[in-house]
Amino acid sequence: MKIISIVGARPQFIKAAPVCRALRSQHEELLVHSGQHYDYNMSDVFFEQLGIPRPDFNLGVGSGTHGQQTAEMLVLLEELFTEQSPDVVLVYGDTNTTLAGGLAAAKLNIPVAHVEAGLRSFNRTMPEEVNRVVVDHLSDILLCPTRTAVENLQTEGITDGVVLVGDVMLDTARHFANAEEAAAAVEHFGLQSGEYYLATVHRAGNSDSEARLGAIIQAFATADKPVIWAIHPRTAKNIGTLGLQAVLDKADNITTVPPVSYVETVGLLSNAAALLTDSGGMQKEAYFFSVPCVTLREETEWTETVELGWNQLVGADTNRILAAMGSLAKPESRPDVYGDGHAAEAILAVLDARYGVCL
Ligand code: UD1
Repeated sequence: MKIISIVGARPQFIKAAPVCRALRSQHEELLVHSGQHYDYNMSDVFFEQLGIPRPDFNLGVGSGTHGQQTAEMLVLLEELFTEQSPDVVLVYGDTNTTLAGGLAAAKLNIPVAHVEAGLRSFNRTMPEEVNRVVVDHLSDILLCPTRTAVENLQTEGITDGVVLVGDVMLDTARHFANAEEAAAAVEHFGLQSGEYYLATVHRAGNSDSEARLGAIIQAFATADKPVIWAIHPRTAKNIGTLGLQAVLDKADNITTVPPVSYVETVGLLSNAAALLTDSGGMQKEAYFFSVPCVTLREETEWTETVELGWNQLVGADTNRILAAMGSLAKPESRPDVYGDGHAAEAILAVLDARYGVCL
């Protein structure tokens, strides 16, 4: 079987790492990097650290408006798929790279397999929600991380090709949980285990809004512990253009650092008092490492983390963020709602059963 896998943004590298390993044990896989993320610390460092094979093709698309970015990928992927005639195209998550990969393949009648299918925030103002809804409706194989995801698809009338495989991010987390560099990260940043908050903010809804980003910074600045904030380039840029740099500079409990590598993130996260984030994937990673999460959004795709008491949804409201930091819970139970850490093997088995003739 010839598989083309498409990645392009940071969370996709983390998801692809175990899947590439599993697929390449038995099949021909070509890895395509769209170039959506291109900075060393947003892209290359993940390939090096997670042992992801070098991309066979890099489209070098870079940043742009949603239309420009997606359209450019679409044109290049259509050419590539036509040349390569894969048996199946594998796409991950909900970025513009996912949308372009799914759409280009579906138009050429190439089967699409979607890793992390069925996630819904039910907020169509999020670009990711539009991407995932479209890609799910184009996909032939819908590889779901949770039961909730399966149910979401059922509600939209999608039942064919839907398989619950578990969460591939758990595969990666298990693989790197005990890495030495993870333990060293806390010391490297001069922090004390359990005595700081780890923060990340990158959603367009937060990072493009002066009011929301300002309220988030205000909460971090008033926190009862140091905050280490790994700043996404989009947010870094907006702090300047939205005139928030001065507020940030005044807050001496906040340390901002450029985006950190996967293994450093694991180290910083697993030793934090809590995670303050608007990331999707990191809400789950906090759960994997038994760390309470405060989510800077009004809704989440990972509803289990909230229902099980590990995650609080507080939006971008300073008082609610501070109240959540003051009422962190570590419930006794942390059931395996994201599977058993072998989702990549399950994906391989599903693709084998559906399209597979081993080489
Ligand atoms: C994208 C995904 C989001 C995912 C996130 C992970 C979409 C619509 N959004 O958001 O779902 O959670 O990746 O990080 O696909 N930039 C750089 N260097 C880079 C990459 C980006 O400086 O290597 C800056 C550019 O100014 C760019 C901005 O960040 O315009 C936004 O990048 P983009 O890829 O459009 O979206 P993300 O915010 O990263």
